[in-house]
Amino acid sequence: MLIVVLHGPNLNLLGSRQPDLYGTTTLIGLNTELKHLANELGIQLRTEQHNSEGALIDAVHAAASADAILINPAAYTHTSIALRDALLAIDKPTWSVHLTEPKNREVFRHTDLIEDLCIGRTAGLGVASYTQALRKLVIWLQMRAKKPHL
Ligand code: DQA
Repeated sequence: MLIVVLHGPNLNLLGSRQPDLYGTTTLIGLNTELKHLANELGIQLRTEQHNSEGALIDAVHAAASADAILINPAAYTHTSIALRDALLAIDKPTWSVHLTEPKNREVFRHTDLIEDLCIGRTAGLGVASYTQALRKLVIWLQMRAKKPHL
């Protein structure tokens, strides 16, 4: 089972970017934690981070060969119809994740252009948003393998 983790813009700065909001774990630290969890769960993980919208969309296209996508589109969550269209085009189970809860922040972050396409969403738990989301996504995929009608 291969899951692709896609991190959107500015997440390369995790650890130093507004640590009061996003925490002090770096992107490398976060990806390392996710790789350990993937080993524990017996799955393969590919992690990527892209600042530009086009590169993130190319990464979504490339994830068409994976089993599922875990994505934090960061600010593109609130703005990118192109990202939404890319996810619709490849039609893979997708779980969205946020370190903070955007719906509790500024009004412009309340719009989520991919939420309805996702099989799940985890937000507001910091790094644990990712680990919880990965665990749930794997359970979802395992359940679907046993009960394809779900
Ligand atoms: C974020 C929330 C977004 O609103 C913001 O633009 C980000 C990070 C989060 O993980 O909490 O860059 O996706």
